[in-house]
Amino acid sequence: MQPHTENDLECIRIQKHFGSVRAVDDVSFEIPKGSFFSILGPSGCGKTTLMRMIAGFEQPSSGDIRIKGKSVIGTPPNRRNVKMVFQHLALFPMMNVYENIAYGLRCAGASKDVIRSKVHDVLERISLPDVANREISQLSGGQKQRIAIARCMVLDPDVLLLDEPLGALDLKLREAMKIELKLLQHQFDTTFVYITHDQSEALVMSDNVAIMNQGKFVQIGTPQELYHNPSAAFVAGFVGDTNRWAGRVTRVEGNTVEVETEAGLAMRGSIRGTGAPGVGDKVSAFVRPEFITAEKAGGSMQAGNGQNVIEGKVDSILFNGANSRVLVRDRAGELIEADVVLTGGPQDLKPKDDVTLSWSPEQTMSFKA
Ligand SMILES: Nc1ncnc2c1ncn2[C@@H]1O[C@H](COP(=O)(O)OP(=O)(O)OP(=O)(O)O)[C@@H](O)[C@H]1O
Ligand SMILES: [Mg+2]
Repeated sequence: MQPHTENDLECIRIQKHFGSVRAVDDVSFEIPKGSFFSILGPSGCGKTTLMRMIAGFEQPSSGDIRIKGKSVIGTPPNRRNVKMVFQHLALFPMMNVYENIAYGLRCAGASKDVIRSKVHDVLERISLPDVANREISQLSGGQKQRIAIARCMVLDPDVLLLDEPLGALDLKLREAMKIELKLLQHQFDTTFVYITHDQSEALVMSDNVAIMNQGKFVQIGTPQELYHNPSAAFVAGFVGDTNRWAGRVTRVEGNTVEVETEAGLAMRGSIRGTGAPGVGDKVSAFVRPEFITAEKAGGSMQAGNGQNVIEGKVDSILFNGANSRVLVRDRAGELIEADVVLTGGPQDLKPKDDVTLSWSPEQTMSFKA
């Protein structure tokens, strides 16, 4: 394979085995220059192991890792132009902000003047120009976060690896830092590889996201692609909120299937993913709450216009401003989630109302099980 120098990072068929555990199992991807790439997957799926191999703390069992087109297999971590921010940041508590940021430059033998100018420049870029003399304990959680990134970025890495760096922050700060991190990545124009098990972080910040499960990359795509065109049931269930049914195919017509769910509901769906299901095959069907319309029973909605239509009763409503989540118990006793617009008027749905739910077969993503 020709090296692609326009890619900041390439992993080619990377494997990592710990005894019988396949922590990373045949993973390949490339990240173009200056992009924000996230690896999203459940705990234990191999994210940190993959990062540690990219950083050079761990050797792959097989495969190649290339940074700016050059293989780094066998190159020690300090000779790879890659920096890593850890979950617990690992700032030196006995040094002030200036010393923390200057540390790497000092180790690299930079002169006093160069260090001073680079530290002040990077503090400027993270919008904290006045904290150079502060102790680490005098910073807020979000400021520590930015200092941890500055300490890496001052060394001008080709790739910055971030391993769940928001994990230690409270919810509100995490929300703010999501946007902050994306802005910082733009500002530095450096490739960020971000790992998380929080899908909302990955979707908000990333140009591309890899969905990882049991050591493998299941799908790589833009957040929109993963959300609207998941290639596998795992991705449909992991990315975004969704209703999910297990069922069997009762009829196939082109790209459409009729499915009877385990609880006995009949619905039509569109075939997604690999493997065409036949009559009798098991499938998983997914519909996102925003694609389900809920209307008081006796309204205009009826079966026969090609939509999936189900009767039910409102169980509860999770108020969330304009767009609220209504939980509807269908006749089979299962809860279905739909997003509704509440206006505060008398027409709003209320608990115990009889409702008709409808949604299109096209939005019923059906994967062969
Ligand atoms: N040094 C090691 N020796 C043996 N097994 C290991 C080692 N490091 C990781 N593993 C195993 O490899 C698998 C992947 O672990 P890894 O830490 O990469 O997961 P992760 O996706 O980062 O999880 P989390 O989200 O919980 O941080 C796990 O089953 C883990 O137990
Ligand atoms: Mg991890």
